[in-house]
Amino acid sequence: MRREYFDNNATTPVLPDVFEAMRPYFSDHFGNASSIHHHGQETRAAVERARDSVATLLGCRAPEIVFTGGGTEGDNLGIFGVLRDDAHVITSTIEHSAVLNTCRQLETLGVAVTYIPVDSECLVDPDDVRRALRPNTQLISIMMANNETGVVQPVEEIGKIAAEADVYFHTDAVQAAGKVEIDVERIGCDLLTISGHKIHAPQGVGALYVRKGIQLTPRLFGGRHERSRRAGTENVPGIVGLGRAAELAQAGFTNSEVARMSSLRDQLQTVLLREVDESVVNGMGSPRVPNTTNIRFEHIEGEALVIALDLKGLAVSTGAACSSGAIEPSHVLTAMGLRPDQARASIRFSLGKQSKPEDVDFAIGLVPNTVAKLRELSPVYARR
Ligand SMILES: Cc1ncc(COP(=O)(O)O)c(C=O)c1O
Repeated sequence: MRREYFDNNATTPVLPDVFEAMRPYFSDHFGNASSIHHHGQETRAAVERARDSVATLLGCRAPEIVFTGGGTEGDNLGIFGVLRDDAHVITSTIEHSAVLNTCRQLETLGVAVTYIPVDSECLVDPDDVRRALRPNTQLISIMMANNETGVVQPVEEIGKIAAEADVYFHTDAVQAAGKVEIDVERIGCDLLTISGHKIHAPQGVGALYVRKGIQLTPRLFGGRHERSRRAGTENVPGIVGLGRAAELAQAGFTNSEVARMSSLRDQLQTVLLREVDESVVNGMGSPRVPNTTNIRFEHIEGEALVIALDLKGLAVSTGAACSSGAIEPSHVLTAMGLRPDQARASIRFSLGKQSKPEDVDFAIGLVPNTVAKLRELSPVYARR
């Protein structure tokens, strides 16, 4: 059965080139990167080459990169790592749970947290961030691109506000990396998180940029790996994969790959909006990453559409989370002011480097009919 994958914001396949770069580090080059003999030196050199590649992608210096076990760990390390006593933190209501739940945990420890709302186009207003500053604000953590809508936040303006107030600025760039160019100097951030599996490297590896001079408190205690910022033997194959994926991500901005992805996404979006009445793109009015479109097909249950499409070979997703058997509407879409039924009627299509025009044609061939069938079965649609 033909299967096409439009859920690259959940995870991306490891590219063949990335896999080949990693392969020798599972067997031939297996040394512990902390060992001083030949085997260790070989893998140490590979880890440092990967650090250079990730630093190039982010526009920083190699020693400012800390390898982590993924985006969640990077967010936790960055946020917890800079806070001192009596802290106030500013974040947004649309963050990924890796940031939101870290902030909720901080609250249980006595840290005050302000959650900045977004407008109907999924944008944080930098003036709201400025107004939320308090004398004891120590950190602002606002994501660069949202995982559900793909909306890119005004991080450069927020960076300026943070610098003026002398407050640390962390940005979760997990969904921005490889899709929009990142330059930590231009953004003005002190901490920035990326994750390997969103840029065609494996799951379970990532990196945190930590501006030079910041004394980061570690979350893990053990050896002096990663300059004592992240204890634990390095995941050498994963780090090598992340380095190669970072090089390919960087190349995508000049070899027209990102532009190609953007035009495929636009084509998918345009045809679906034309073929399905009462369909709307959530966050259409904002700058968005080139691979994502979040479409609301009014009067359907997104979860039912995801299942129906999966049975026909198309993998997409809703931002909905299933908690205790009930489907909760997406916190991002409800933060944008959508009613619960509208949030539940929304589907995310996210493309990857492997996406081809034929895949888009396949999706276009399936989605309008499937939506129409679900609507036929819907009493709400019939009564409207
Ligand atoms: C915006 C964002 N931040 C953080 C994460 C967590 O990254 P990881 O899965 O590598 O822990 C994700 C994953 O979906 C994400 O989309």
